[in-house]
Amino acid sequence: MQDLGYYNGKIGPIEEMSIPMNDRVCWFGDGVYDAGPCRNYRIFALDEHIDRLFRSAAMLDIRMPLSKEALRELLNDLVRKLDTGELFVYYQVTRGTAMRSHDYEPMPGNLWVMIRPAVQSGFDKPIQLITAEDTRYFHCNIKTLNLIPNIMASQKAKLAGCQEAVLYRPGGRVTECSHSNVHILQGGELYTAPTDELILPGITRAHLLRACRDLGIPVHEEPFRLEELFAAEEVLVTSSSKLVCFADRIDGRPVGGRQEKLKDRIRQAMLEEYLSATQP
Ligand code: PDD
Repeated sequence: MQDLGYYNGKIGPIEEMSIPMNDRVCWFGDGVYDAGPCRNYRIFALDEHIDRLFRSAAMLDIRMPLSKEALRELLNDLVRKLDTGELFVYYQVTRGTAMRSHDYEPMPGNLWVMIRPAVQSGFDKPIQLITAEDTRYFHCNIKTLNLIPNIMASQKAKLAGCQEAVLYRPGGRVTECSHSNVHILQGGELYTAPTDELILPGITRAHLLRACRDLGIPVHEEPFRLEELFAAEEVLVTSSSKLVCFADRIDGRPVGGRQEKLKDRIRQAMLEEYLSATQP
């Protein structure tokens, strides 16, 4: 074969391979990978790569569908199917296959392998570089498919018997939730994180702000901290799937419940807007 794709036991040319839409990697980028070069059908540093793959999977609670030994044997068998022994050997394990939901039930992972010809060369020529600020994991304003930190937080909330996890940055600034925005009422006024790169600019958040302004509730788009969250008169959570919810407990401590009337007016206004905009 000129190149090779493998998915849970199925083998074919890479271009002809397909995977189920519900593989969680499609919805969430929910998987781990490793890769390395191969020469003369010998995969370089394979055990070290396999160890790292298993470590990555364990850190994300992804269940490996086979042992290290079985993976080593499989990869060594697969490279033998190629027309050349100079290859790039790539493999990944995704969390499994399920309907889209941030949290998950434990299930065996899906194993993917991709092998294609590649020659290691060019060590003798200088290369040219640029610099770029390291902003990785600071792009929460982009509705990206790469949601592993969100998934891990959502799963932690589920295992604690809760519906959401409120996220905060080192130092205690509250940003948003794993799949919602979070806001507080204090002194009868709404406080919500500004739409910088640390939160997703929620559509429901924008509707909440409009509803509050229409109701004459002052709105502050400014950062607030964990202490303020716990001390808030009300804690609101918004998203397209749940519209607006109010929390009564965070980390097992009672919160909110001190602006019942205002809370009902906000909830009512948002529900009315939703019902009227979606009339037949
Ligand atoms: N989640 N923040 C994050 C990280 C989100 O994933 C979402 C939405 C929101 C709320 O945005 P909006 O009001 O536009 O839905 C905030 C959706 C519901 C999801 O991933 O299923």
